[in-house]
Amino acid sequence: MNPASESKRCLTRILHAIDLSSLSKTDHKLLLSRLDQHFPALFDLLLQVYDKHYELHYHLQQLVQTLASQFAQRNARLKKKDKQRLADPLWHKSEQMLGMACYVDLIAGDLNGVREKIPYFTELGLTYLHLMPLYKSPEGDSDGGYAVSDYRCVNPALGTTKDLQVLAQALNEAGISLVLDFVFNHTADDHAWAKAARAGDEEYQDYYLMFDDRQLPDQYDATLREIFPSVRRGSFSYLPDIQKWVWTTFNNFQWDLNYSNPAVFRAIVDEMLFLANLGCDSLRLDALAFIWKDLGTVCENRPKAHALIKAFNCCLQIVAPAVVFKSEAIVHPDEVVKYIAPNECQLSYNPLLMALLWNSLATQKTRLITQSLSHRFAINPQCTWVNYVRCHDDIGWTFDDGDAAHLGINGYNHRLFLNQFYTGRFENSFAVGLGFQENPENGDCRVCGSLASLAGLQQALERNSPPLIELAIKRMLLLNSVILSIGGIPLLYAGDELAMLNDYSFQTDPHKLHDARWVNRPRIDAQAIALAHQPGSPQYRVNVGLRKMIATRKKYPVFGAASTQVLRTGSDHCFAYLRQTDNGERLLVLCNFSDSERELSADILHHLLPAREVTDLIEHQSVVLDFSNPLLLTAYQVLWLYLPIAVN
Ligand code: GLC
Ligand code: GLC
Repeated sequence: MNPASESKRCLTRILHAIDLSSLSKTDHKLLLSRLDQHFPALFDLLLQVYDKHYELHYHLQQLVQTLASQFAQRNARLKKKDKQRLADPLWHKSEQMLGMACYVDLIAGDLNGVREKIPYFTELGLTYLHLMPLYKSPEGDSDGGYAVSDYRCVNPALGTTKDLQVLAQALNEAGISLVLDFVFNHTADDHAWAKAARAGDEEYQDYYLMFDDRQLPDQYDATLREIFPSVRRGSFSYLPDIQKWVWTTFNNFQWDLNYSNPAVFRAIVDEMLFLANLGCDSLRLDALAFIWKDLGTVCENRPKAHALIKAFNCCLQIVAPAVVFKSEAIVHPDEVVKYIAPNECQLSYNPLLMALLWNSLATQKTRLITQSLSHRFAINPQCTWVNYVRCHDDIGWTFDDGDAAHLGINGYNHRLFLNQFYTGRFENSFAVGLGFQENPENGDCRVCGSLASLAGLQQALERNSPPLIELAIKRMLLLNSVILSIGGIPLLYAGDELAMLNDYSFQTDPHKLHDARWVNRPRIDAQAIALAHQPGSPQYRVNVGLRKMIATRKKYPVFGAASTQVLRTGSDHCFAYLRQTDNGERLLVLCNFSDSERELSADILHHLLPAREVTDLIEHQSVVLDFSNPLLLTAYQVLWLYLPIAVN
């Protein structure tokens, strides 16, 4: 039998067996048409993953029952949104988009506090708010909430599920999409499933990857990358009470789920749809690269991880198609792009751009960013990058060694240099940052620090040096200018818009002091806000400069759905790209990444021909194009040269 008729027969059998009585007539019809559309792909994907599983049919039936129950739970307002989004699937490409990520407690105390901040968010221009994990999690260290004890329960310190639903609706009414974390690679070790496993329940032990002895863990460890080597060596933690080893990619209290068990897939689909039904617009797929393990491999980015993510996406299309997935793959750039597809993740962090921006600031050279992005920026046109300068995590130098070697740069040595540069072990560095997760074996580490401190403001203020302050401000605006204009959703990390410095208070908190990432997770207090409103302060100048660029972005469609072409500038210090809409609107961006004046060949202006005069949208002044003399860019200067429509 061919696969199409096989999936059809399977679905027909399931629909006879399950209970759909809770659905209204209209819902029943809609669900059936969505199943007709998406079940064949779902069936095919799950067959790829679980082909040999003797109980697969039983699990498929349970799965469809889960989809139907969650569909019945989805409220009318969200179903209306599903319809709207299906009619406008590229909403995330708009020039109106501007994101922010923050911890609920650090920005506003609790969920009701976040709601009270909506006027601040709208005034800043936000249309997308990522609230870091806000679910119930263990007391003490919970990896900032990335250890989830109960997906269906809001952390009581932050509010209730009702508060979250009210907030989601209030945000939507203010034109802001809500992004929630889908932490599906692991649960906390006090999740009900983990507790049952620990109590000896074999069904739940099979929800995790548990081993009676070191034989398999040793074999796996031989090829695994260590993500948190300062927590423990290897990727397994011992549970003395049940005398078993459990797979823990991150902290000991974050147990990896066993996706080779189809019951786990079904159970997590249920949790995922519960989150979708709270009213979020995007789910951030945390640590998605790690969900499938194959012995003898690094157990990241495996083909079955992709099949599973696509299967999750099918479930979303059936029940909550308004919601899009955002990939958090902080891995090699060849692998990052493999998660980006309309049927997998419609959005993705852009860790390569982030790392290369910092690389360009450190080296004052743009060869690597130009070389890498000229062949790595293009993605499926129905998908969107999420471009960021800093996030709540560390900076990892995830560029490709081949791109570096092409320029005569040794990737390994260069990463050592970057780590030294950003952790204050390199003379003449402007940056103040901390190392994170140094690997004693290979000396590898990653970097933590706030945008302002890594860009030089902390040092400049400590030295009380106006010229250094000037340079630091320019660096911050330069990095932000790129994420605002290169194509994608610009995502600010809360506090960076206020140019907040490193926060060392975590060093006195026993639950945080071992995790240097807290240095770049400051509490947004009244003082920080006041400083950014005090005319003349460096923080004020960053804030005002940023707001100006945001306002400009929103006025011109060329910042939204447009193509991006990275250009060779002929200068080692300048980075350039051309953006173009379908109707010929053009934006030529030129940036100087060095702290002195640089010349740029006027050849690059040919991209604006036949215009003779354009507008620089940074200074809002007209610029007469001079093709016979080199262009001069001052230290860290950015030009946004704009041409409305093709001139004949
Ligand atoms: C993601 C999060 C990070 C967390 C890890 C484990 O990478 O961004 O903060 O430690 O996943 O959940
Ligand atoms: C690794 C992981 C990434 C995570 C980070 C946390 O880079 O790939 O998912 O955010 O560790 O430090």
